[in-house]
Amino acid sequence: MKNLAEEPLTGVRSPALGEIVGTFATSKIGDLVMNMLSYSTGRMPRYETCDLNEIVRDVVEMASAVVADSRVEVGMDLDDSLPRVPLDRAGIHRSVLNLLMNAGEALEAKGGKIVLSTFYDGDVDKVGIAVADDGPGIAENDVPMLFVPFASTKGGRGTGLGLAVVRKTTEEHYGDVTAENRPEGGAAFTIRLPATMPKRDAEIF
Ligand SMILES: Nc1ncnc2c1ncn2[C@@H]1O[C@H](COP(=O)(O)OP(=O)(O)OP(=O)(O)O)[C@@H](O)[C@H]1O
Ligand SMILES: [Mg+2]
Repeated sequence: MKNLAEEPLTGVRSPALGEIVGTFATSKIGDLVMNMLSYSTGRMPRYETCDLNEIVRDVVEMASAVVADSRVEVGMDLDDSLPRVPLDRAGIHRSVLNLLMNAGEALEAKGGKIVLSTFYDGDVDKVGIAVADDGPGIAENDVPMLFVPFASTKGGRGTGLGLAVVRKTTEEHYGDVTAENRPEGGAAFTIRLPATMPKRDAEIF
């Protein structure tokens, strides 16, 4: 029998491992584990100066694995003049991914369009990311439970942690997340985050 421990960790095995890790990162079980970790750990954000548009582009790039439905179109409307901002990259990436997955799941029945947009609000010095879909929208009965951990309308297919993680992460950044039903139909979730360092004691890398 081959001793795998003696095999070099290079060559053909590396891409395969990369694929496995990539698949895990976008699989249901991977999402559950990542959301459980995000929800349960009490660490403060590890700030680094980030290009929020780059994070959104990265999440959309993963979209083909996340929203593998040809009837679902994913578009972007990114503000090119967005300032670079101090963020916990992993936390915001996970939050945008959770919103994109919810939008994709909302479009499962009929297909439709998802648009991720970014903007800067100079009046309050905040950057924002909105994820809008043209699905059925949020049912009135579901509104009070939206951000409550483990509250899901998806039965066994949902753990109800996605939005709880989004809220926890944005609040750790001294930001907020809001949900609305769009007048033209569908739901929109908007994250707003301070564009400058919110706390003197926070560390920046
Ligand atoms: N874009 C959306 N349109 C309509 N309803 C939504 C949308 N996003 C979230 N919801 C509602 O909010 C609930 C909570 O969402 P959340 O992401 O926290 O949990 P989940 O998607 O059910 O499970 P999980 O994300 O843990 O797999 C959903 O079950 C759904 O009813
Ligand atoms: Mg979800």
